[in-house]
Amino acid sequence: MSQILLTAKNIAHKFDYELFNNVHLELKEQESIAIVGRSGSGKSTLLHILSSFIKPNSGNVTLLGKDIYLLSEEQLENLRRYELGIIFQAHYLFKGMTALDNIEIATLLSKEKIDNNLLERLEIKELMTQKIGELSGGQQQRVSIARVLSKKPKIIFADEPTGNLDKETAKLVMEVLLEYIKNNNSALILVTHDIEMAELCNRSFKLEQKALKEIL
Ligand SMILES: Nc1ncnc2c1ncn2[C@@H]1O[C@H](COP(=O)(O)OP(=O)(O)OP(=O)(O)O)[C@@H](O)[C@H]1O
Ligand SMILES: [Mg+2]
Repeated sequence: MSQILLTAKNIAHKFDYELFNNVHLELKEQESIAIVGRSGSGKSTLLHILSSFIKPNSGNVTLLGKDIYLLSEEQLENLRRYELGIIFQAHYLFKGMTALDNIEIATLLSKEKIDNNLLERLEIKELMTQKIGELSGGQQQRVSIARVLSKKPKIIFADEPTGNLDKETAKLVMEVLLEYIKNNNSALILVTHDIEMAELCNRSFKLEQKALKEIL
């Protein structure tokens, strides 16, 4: 039986105005979930809540069986470092370093090996000795995805990972992400504007009128 990796119960959050309330979500091993919605509806905020970076005004998040609000700073740090793979809208690569150095930082921390096959699949293997500043936006994005996957996370949170990419490359990135979760018994939550990318996931939800609703 496949295990539940993430449970969100009754999540509500507001900044200047209420973004959403009563959000429930469950993510199982090998499952991919897409979240769509208009700009400003709170998709990134929800992803930050689910990935432990923002504490919601109310509700609970359980990751890998652990209530994250009961964890110590150190336990939370370890969970983020070893189990969560986070691909955010702005990618935090070290600009002065090479693509390879950037990926090695992640694999050294998590004691994993760099997967050459993955670099080949993402069509970035030939770029490894180049400095980040010399790469195009889409190439940088794929390096940051390779960096995240190289540490072998159990849950991947991706915020518009295909946003800067042409359709063909976007599809390639989606295929790599979906293959990864199948091969590693992991799972994916994807925020996207692109309904075609959402359709590649097992389930899709829309954030609308302060609620998260499943769409078919
Ligand atoms: N740290 C913050 N402090 C105050 N307001 C915030 C903060 N983060 C987000 N907001 C507000 O919350 C709302 C939702 O933002 P969010 O980034 O979650 O939207 P989004 O659905 O991801 O939009 P987009 O599709 O444009 O990325 C916005 O109105 C934004 O201004
Ligand atoms: Mg966003």
